Amino acid sequence: MERVEEFVERALYGPEGFYETGGRAGRRGASFVTSVETGPLFGAVIANALDRWWHDAGEPDEWVVVDAGAGPGTLARTIRVAGAACAEALRIVNVERSAAQRQLHDPADESSSHLPPVADVIIANELLDNLPFGMDELAEGDWVPVEITDDGTMSPDAGGPRRPTVAAAAAWIDDARARLRPHGRLVCFDYADTSRRIEARPWTDWIRAFAGHEQLDDPFVAPGSRDITVVIPHDRLPPATESTNQADWLREHGIDALVDEGRRYWEAHAAAPDLTAIRMRSRMNEADALLDAEGLGGFWVGEWSSVRH
Ligand SMILES: C[S@@+](CC[C@H](N)C(=O)[O-])C[C@H]1O[C@@H](n2cnc3c(N)ncnc32)[C@H](O)[C@@H]1O
Repeated sequence: MERVEEFVERALYGPEGFYETGGRAGRRGASFVTSVETGPLFGAVIANALDRWWHDAGEPDEWVVVDAGAGPGTLARTIRVAGAACAEALRIVNVERSAAQRQLHDPADESSSHLPPVADVIIANELLDNLPFGMDELAEGDWVPVEITDDGTMSPDAGGPRRPTVAAAAAWIDDARARLRPHGRLVCFDYADTSRRIEARPWTDWIRAFAGHEQLDDPFVAPGSRDITVVIPHDRLPPATESTNQADWLREHGIDALVDEGRRYWEAHAAAPDLTAIRMRSRMNEADALLDAEGLGGFWVGEWSSVRH
């Protein structure tokens, strides 16, 4: 038997783990779609935000932006396509734990298994829910770590309330903040809720497994065959400097203007659409997915300032 966090660590990142054996975010041939993978619009909004923060920081010559948990490196590609004003200063570092996915990074960007010592902005889309998490059960008045076998048998399993534990995510945030320059910020997008609301629901609602674009019934069988994720209890993380939901965050950083631009371009070129017109039209569908309050738009966004602030 091993603790849930040890099981998740092995099942996702061990030599036979999900992310070392081909699991990844993406559309065709991949396992699940994230905001980054819906199309280039998410990266274009991030590019707007990077420009605003770069300007506020006095337009420094070097602007180090980290995509933490970068997967195949799609966010960096879409930021570059967006043509940010800070492009000349921009150094993007794709930080990805899985060697299999680091192979997919664009050589134009830096690629690493670890966070760099210094950064201006660290972005993490759906990273926190993928850091090895644990589960406690309330047994005779004490919260006890749940242990599990490879066939999914759990102990204790006396029907008491359960709660996720996210010590690794909390430690990761502290480590990331310590690397930020004084004006820097860490921005995490994830599915999250309050611990009270999470604990009121059965654990099968907040620990979920995915493979081949399907949600699977049992997260704790056949380790390596599926992604295992947790809804983050955000009040158990270091307190965020600011927090909101994804739809509001994207609006704050100009998604509506990008969609309007797309609509106008499409209308002007619909009779003989070129590739740009098709991309511009796609912004409307991408925005629907990114802003959907029941889906990606309802994600939680936490921002943390530098500890050197
Ligand atoms: C759900 S995927 C998200 C990928 C991408 N950010 C996106 O939104 O499409 C999470 C990624 O984080 C990576 N990861 C997990 N722990 C990590 C760590 N400590 N440092 C860097 N990457 C990590 C996983 O290997 C996986 O590729």
